[in-house]
Amino acid sequence: MAKTLTYFAFLFFSTVAAAVGDGHTFSRNLSPESLDLKREKLSHLHFYFHDVITGPNPTVVRVAEAAVTNKSATLFGGVAVLDDPLTVGPEPSSKLVGRAQGMYAAASQKEFGLLMVMNFAFMEGKYNGSTLSVLGRNTIFSKVREMPIIGGSGVFRYARGYVEARTYSFNVKSGDAVVEYNVYAFHY
Ligand SMILES: *[C@@H]1O[C@H](CO)[C@@H](O)[C@H](O)[C@H]1NC(C)=O
Ligand SMILES: *[C@@H]1O[C@H](CO)[C@@H](O)[C@H](O)[C@H]1NC(C)=O
Repeated sequence: MAKTLTYFAFLFFSTVAAAVGDGHTFSRNLSPESLDLKREKLSHLHFYFHDVITGPNPTVVRVAEAAVTNKSATLFGGVAVLDDPLTVGPEPSSKLVGRAQGMYAAASQKEFGLLMVMNFAFMEGKYNGSTLSVLGRNTIFSKVREMPIIGGSGVFRYARGYVEARTYSFNVKSGDAVVEYNVYAFHY
């Protein structure tokens, strides 16, 4: 009974709210077909991510640190911004298919554990101009790191899924790394 009353009160007030609008419509219901959302697809993408820290053209730059960062074995509190090339093969000269743009924060006191917030901005074929957004935890010395895909744009609108990151090569001296990515994304 109380529920029904609440429902009618809601209907009443939402009607009043609509009526007192100034002629502009704030919301409406749409059918998924009207946006051409018919069948959800699953795509698998595979590429290599190049993190270049040293040299004349670094793709990762440290932008912030806490007083503890320099003393921490895990660089806790450090923040870096990245704009890394994504290529079809593991060699840096391999065909460019996109870039990973975003940031890392060293968010673990006990191990190398990064919070990663980045967009994959693709340039290849029908994916050119489309993006996937990744937000996750990257324990860089683990064999496989899984991170969620939390959305996308262009052909990846409504995307959800996950990525698997595997270190392909890591230069202990420079910190430069090549990381293999497998992306599994549902989208329309
Ligand atoms: C950390 O070390 C770097 C390089 O030695 C130095 O430039 C920076 O000022 C230090 N930062 C802090 C917060 O102590
Ligand atoms: C991707 O799109 C941009 C902008 O429309 C265009 O300039 C560029 O040539 C395209 N790249 C490829 C590889 O299709």
